[in-house]
Amino acid sequence: MNNFSFRNPTKIHFGKGQIAKIKEEIPADARVLITYGGGSIKKNGVLAQVHAALENITFFEFGGIEPNPHFETLMQAIELVKQEKITYLLAVGGGSVVDGTKFIAGASCYEGDPLEMIYTRASKVKTALPLGCVLTLPATGSEMNGNAVVTRWETKDKMGMFSELMRPTFSILDPETTYSLPARQVGNGVVDAMVHILEQYMTYPVQGKVQDYYAESLLKILMEDGPQALTDPMNYDVRANIMWAATQALNGMLSLGMPGDWSIHAIGHQITALYGLDHAQTLAIVLPAVWSYKKAQKKAKLLQYADHVLGIKEANDDDQSATLAIEKTRAFFESMGVPTRFSAYGLDATAIPAIVEKLRQHGRLKLGEHGDITPDDVTQLLQLAL
Ligand code: NZQ
Ligand code: ZN
Repeated sequence: MNNFSFRNPTKIHFGKGQIAKIKEEIPADARVLITYGGGSIKKNGVLAQVHAALENITFFEFGGIEPNPHFETLMQAIELVKQEKITYLLAVGGGSVVDGTKFIAGASCYEGDPLEMIYTRASKVKTALPLGCVLTLPATGSEMNGNAVVTRWETKDKMGMFSELMRPTFSILDPETTYSLPARQVGNGVVDAMVHILEQYMTYPVQGKVQDYYAESLLKILMEDGPQALTDPMNYDVRANIMWAATQALNGMLSLGMPGDWSIHAIGHQITALYGLDHAQTLAIVLPAVWSYKKAQKKAKLLQYADHVLGIKEANDDDQSATLAIEKTRAFFESMGVPTRFSAYGLDATAIPAIVEKLRQHGRLKLGEHGDITPDDVTQLLQLAL
């Protein structure tokens, strides 16, 4: 296990009725901006609960933050923040709303052009507005980390960024808010959370037993309960376990002292930006391709995963076991309603050069846990995903 330092200051309120806790977290004299997406929170009653919790606190609203939030839209919110002298942001929605709100938090206080924040990955953020979150879609882990992913629509640049200052102060995780999710978002959420775990796990052994076994437990939970959320959507315990597992998949714990891959996300972001696929759909396409391409380097962890998580017993040798681990993961994604090949989304090999060009433009020339996946490798490995 490598050295690490760790602190995660986000306070979590988990469970039924916890939206009411907002009033304990936000100062009574705050001027709050509620941020949200396309309106799901109006239909499922979440916004009404938020309004009730904000009784006697001054609040404003900004809706219309789209999936894969656009810089251009977020800039409109920043105008409202300045105009109404907002002092606290409250994101109510999925990862896109939370990420967008983190950007608003940093950009509202940014000295200089907020566009810079995208290309410097928020590294120069010195101060930010405080933000809280009511999560309605378990997937990204954004509710308990400092990451934000924002798309500059004009140039199709989808960029990840990180700042300690953009971590939510508090997050409310009420599994009942997820009952209204469409099946597609349930599948996306489970796949995204699994890929977060796997980006931090499927590398090479460093004897990080705590992180490894923790990751394996979370994977098993998502693989057990994910399909149940599709067949039994009103099952509270299933929703609760998925929600809490997805948070822990990317709240920093699993990566402590461990190498990380993250090539799957880096490539996936370009596919979303260029061709509009959902975030998890891109991961489901890219993961089997990266693993197949790097099977030899990832062999030890593929075998551990085959044994500890998938319980593969039928293989004749290690190579077959590793191959089966990849194919069973692919089959699981498909079973969650998330197709794993470009062709299922109407794309073919002609889609690949633009993806690789975007990676080059962004200087992503050495991906993966060994930094040895070059743009030329990406061209080759994506052929495995057609
Ligand atoms: O916009 P509304 O109307 O709310 O509808 C949303 C949206 O259409 C809907 N939805 C959310 N909660 C719902 C609901 N519908 C019914 N009932 C509910 N309870 O779901 C749709 C998708 O929402 P979105 O927020 O886009 O999904 P997700 O949470 O998967 O977020 C994806 C974004 O997060 C980024 C992705 O790149 C993408 O931009 N990520 C953020 C990360 C982070 N901050 O750490 C890490 C991830 O790897 C990821 O990159
Ligand atoms: Zn992700």
